[in-house]
Amino acid sequence: MATISFFASLFLSTFLLHLCLLYGVGAGDPAIGSNREALEIIIGGGGGSNYPASPPEYENCPPPPPEPECPPPPSPPPSPPPPSPPPPSPPPPSPPPPSPPPPPPPPPSPPPPSPPPPPRLKLVYPVLQSFRKLVKYDPFNKLASWDRKDQNVCKFKGLTCATVPKYNQRALAAVDFNGFHLSGGKDGLLLSGFIEMLPDITVFHANSNNFTGCIPREISKLPYFYELDLSNNKLEGQFPMEVLGAKQLTFLDLRFNNLQGTVPPQVFLLDVDVIFINNNNFYQNLPYNLGSTPALYLTFANNKFTGPIPPSIGNAKDTLIEVLFLNNKLTGCLPFEIGKLKLATVFDVSINQLTGPIPHSFQCLSKIEVLNLSRNEFYGSVPDEICKLPNLGAFDLSNNFFTEVGPECRKLIKKNYLDVKQNCIIDLPYQKSKHECAAFFSKMWNHRCNENNMNYIPCKKKYYSDPLDSSYHQPATVPAPSPLSYGALKPHRP
Ligand SMILES: *[C@@H]1O[C@H](CO)[C@@H](O)[C@H](O)[C@H]1NC(C)=O
Ligand SMILES: *[C@@H]1O[C@H](CO)[C@@H](O)[C@H](O)[C@H]1NC(C)=O
Repeated sequence: MATISFFASLFLSTFLLHLCLLYGVGAGDPAIGSNREALEIIIGGGGGSNYPASPPEYENCPPPPPEPECPPPPSPPPSPPPPSPPPPSPPPPSPPPPSPPPPPPPPPSPPPPSPPPPPRLKLVYPVLQSFRKLVKYDPFNKLASWDRKDQNVCKFKGLTCATVPKYNQRALAAVDFNGFHLSGGKDGLLLSGFIEMLPDITVFHANSNNFTGCIPREISKLPYFYELDLSNNKLEGQFPMEVLGAKQLTFLDLRFNNLQGTVPPQVFLLDVDVIFINNNNFYQNLPYNLGSTPALYLTFANNKFTGPIPPSIGNAKDTLIEVLFLNNKLTGCLPFEIGKLKLATVFDVSINQLTGPIPHSFQCLSKIEVLNLSRNEFYGSVPDEICKLPNLGAFDLSNNFFTEVGPECRKLIKKNYLDVKQNCIIDLPYQKSKHECAAFFSKMWNHRCNENNMNYIPCKKKYYSDPLDSSYHQPATVPAPSPLSYGALKPHRP
């Protein structure tokens, strides 16, 4: 589905390049846009997809989400123009690109400074002015550039223009307030009245600001909108159901807010590449349909999720690359289905209350680089086959109740790739006290898992004793973990 390339540090330039792609090429080429071309995970903002996004394919969706908890936006800003999302029906025939309409006659008045802005831009100017009035704190004085006499919004800091093919006109295509630290007055800096009034935007990036309130429902009507980054803001309340309407979203970043409650299962039906919701206060069980997500990166870390990891996670085997569940309140045994994640490079469930042995299926995690199970209540013998995985360079089992490690794993311990400190392995140093281990094992009946499933190995052809399916054999490489999603555990964009 996605050809992936990473440009963690080249964000702006690649981003601009993408806009050209997005807006410039789409017109008249119906094939373009049906496939998502490239994704840059910028832990910092976003990926790309071609314009126009593929049509929503959610006929079978669950019913529309319930009414949002948030009240409607208090009142529209002073005098915005009527919101004018492009009509759903085909646009009025516009002149073909080669012969654009003649430029409007220059104003008769003294030396014409610059031609009046094209209509798509004119449309958003008052919206931007209203927004500017809401901003009471702008520590880096970014919005000073918004006072330009010529009203050229394309030169305003934080905004990017591009040609929107539908109108063959310049339009406001992207908002990037990352790191601006904008704040509102006593009513807060509201998204409603702003984001949904920018009819041509493709991305809205606002890492590290003080946006509050609701995400307006009308974002579902923005025809080109595909990236939303509201990380490290002041969003509160339940998961913003409004984002579920934005069916073309490929990048959803809500980490570092004060969101709470549950994550609706519909989130996992969005055709996104990235779901970052770490560092909120989400609680309750992980949604049963987690594995329906086509996302490559999931960060659920530093919340209060409870209950077991749903076995459906195995359904994400063709897409999922990195999963961060660390520091939650997960319980139960690891489902063997995790072993189906043949593309996964990072799986981190550290700091939870998970238990049971490691399923033998984990030896099928053929791409895994980082496997962190530390600080849980796992026990048993560590399946030695896992320690043969060719890219495994950070295998952390510390602070559990494991009792045995085999020869392959001992090799990894020597290389410092495997940490088994603070377990119950009698012949190794830095283990738990006998007393602590004994106390745990006397309560073992609390922690039983389904043993049959624990022995199932999906990458073996039939039975446990069969040779490994050849498609799982990988050339051995030097372990060189290069996880990306850990960057999401820091609040600011790089
Ligand atoms: C951002 O919002 C928080 C609470 O919502 C407030 O305490 C803080 O002062 C705000 N920051 C600024 C710069 O206004
Ligand atoms: C595993 O997770 C723990 C807790 O989140 C962390 O302190 C440790 O550094 C991680 N281990 C590795 C090898 O990354």
